[in-house]
Amino acid sequence: MYIDTSTLSNKEMYKFLIGGVAPRPIAWAGTRSKDGINNLAPFSFYNAFSSTPPIVGFSAIPRLDGSNKDTLQNIIDTECFTLSTVSHKLVQQASKSAALLEPDEDEFDYAGLEPAEAQNINAPYVKDALLVFECTLNQIVSFGHHEGAGNLILGEIKFIAIDDSIYNDGYVDIAKLDPVGRLAGNWYSTIRDRFELTRG
Ligand SMILES: Cc1cc2nc3c(=O)[nH]c(=O)nc-3n(C[C@H](O)[C@H](O)[C@H](O)COP(=O)(O)O)c2cc1C
Repeated sequence: MYIDTSTLSNKEMYKFLIGGVAPRPIAWAGTRSKDGINNLAPFSFYNAFSSTPPIVGFSAIPRLDGSNKDTLQNIIDTECFTLSTVSHKLVQQASKSAALLEPDEDEFDYAGLEPAEAQNINAPYVKDALLVFECTLNQIVSFGHHEGAGNLILGEIKFIAIDDSIYNDGYVDIAKLDPVGRLAGNWYSTIRDRFELTRG
């Protein structure tokens, strides 16, 4: 089979992406609104792009009505964010934090997570996360505001908060970090196996 992507609907194309680009690491983006409300959401269209400068990026797809997700709007307003790694023991809370809440509602409270304050930027992170990047906005590459259009948010990592228990001689102990990845449907991966988790 050979497929011309221009013949595919957004949904069909999306299925190729999530089935073909997998497992995807998950960034748990912590932001703050200009009114001071904490926001947290997981993003699996996420990766690293440069080590000097240290650039990471993730993509926020607009809501069905075309409006910006709170994460994107907050980053436009404050130009900074944290990225907490989702370890296996936190995956249930990560799934819950993806709920569509109003901008004045706090996903930390909703998902039963304790927030902590980034040391050098105006954003919260997940206190129980073992590895956190404190980022300033580098640029946003917008592919539009229609259904499925990504908004690639590139950030420069300015500070790293790493739990001493997973830091060995300059290396991240990946077995102890135990990160999860996103597959398709309700499937996720550990660094050993895959498992199913219903959203929420
Ligand atoms: C594991 C996981 C990965 C997700 N990855 C993305 C993603 O890459 N891009 C995106 O726009 N939404 C993604 N979502 C959905 C967002 O987390 C969800 O829309 C969330 O409500 C956005 O929150 P916000 O409006 O506070 O920014 C993902 C959800 C889950 C559970």
